[in-house]
Amino acid sequence: MVVLGEKVRCIDLETKKEIPKRTIEIHWSEKSAEKGSYAHFMMKEIMEQKTTIAETINQNETVIKKVADEIKNAFGTYLIGCGTAGKVCLTASYLFSRVAKKHVNAVFGSEFGSHKHFLTKDSLLIAVSQSGETADTLEAMEIAKEKGCKLITIVNVESSTMARMADIVIPIKVGPEKAVASTKATTAQLTVLTQIAYALAGKLNEGKQLLIAAASQINDMLNPRYEDHIKELAEKIKGVESMYIIGKDVNYPMALEAAIKLQEVSYIHAEGFAGGELKHGPIALITEGTPVIAIVANDETKKDILSNAMEVKARGGYIIGVSPETSEIFDYWIKVPDAGAASPIVNIIPIQILAYHLSVIRQNNPDMPRNLAKSVTVK
Ligand code: M6R
Repeated sequence: MVVLGEKVRCIDLETKKEIPKRTIEIHWSEKSAEKGSYAHFMMKEIMEQKTTIAETINQNETVIKKVADEIKNAFGTYLIGCGTAGKVCLTASYLFSRVAKKHVNAVFGSEFGSHKHFLTKDSLLIAVSQSGETADTLEAMEIAKEKGCKLITIVNVESSTMARMADIVIPIKVGPEKAVASTKATTAQLTVLTQIAYALAGKLNEGKQLLIAAASQINDMLNPRYEDHIKELAEKIKGVESMYIIGKDVNYPMALEAAIKLQEVSYIHAEGFAGGELKHGPIALITEGTPVIAIVANDETKKDILSNAMEVKARGGYIIGVSPETSEIFDYWIKVPDAGAASPIVNIIPIQILAYHLSVIRQNNPDMPRNLAKSVTVK
């Protein structure tokens, strides 16, 4: 780096050529990095979803359509992420199948090495990340780059290593996410991927309308009464040792994501399952009073997941329904808006709130859970 007066020039030490500057406009305000009136960043960031989803919809349409074309023409697309971002990728693989009838692979960054044998220069890798610095996801990008694949990233930090490596960058634009547990970045990543799925089906406008409706429903949903209702549930179940979450289709990966959220901030043993898998083993874990969250979308999956919840109830389980409509099976009902194909976006939010309150009631620090870092930059 050569500093001349106020000017800074970067020189490639091998070629001695100047490296052109990339200008990135960051719209984050100083205020967005402060807690304001909230006790913790986690709750502040959950509540910010009243506006972040609407802001994320506002993407450059040309870029969204370009990414959809890349997927259409690729010889295999891999959605890569870790932790929550990995669950977002898995949700998107269901969405792409449902909305665009297109198969995409969802692979955790740490597992991607085993897939490298399938890559050609026509394969496409889409890295999903909040920080853009997660070592396992970066390694997947390096592997794909070596094979000559095109790289796309859906990322929050626009100055990150992932953004610099990628051929196309889709910023999720949610401002700084400071709590270790990902909340607003999760729903924004889902928002972008939903748009891409609709663009791939040639129905971007329809997708945007669906998301605009969901954003407005979320704005209405996130009110103090709603939070109190969930806090009441947290009080009821605060002493449990284990809890489980079931979902189907796009809401199966959301059950996995719900488990991560509960694990990392409440330290309660939580596991997510595909509802239909219960009878193949996990149902043996249900005893009298075991809380089981059933994520029930108002679609063709409803009958099956309610029947799975019924199997749990028959074994003494305490059923918490996250659903637009109540059911006699539910012992506790958390109402969510009926958001159609955007249901994963709305369904995860009450579970984020539940995880937060369980954390606070159990006297944990939801912003800085034990043993975890916001950005995992080591393998
Ligand atoms: O910054 P990234 O989105 O790449 O981080 C990936 C995971 O480490 C992250 O999502 C982690 O699972 C969260 N703490 C979950 O809330």
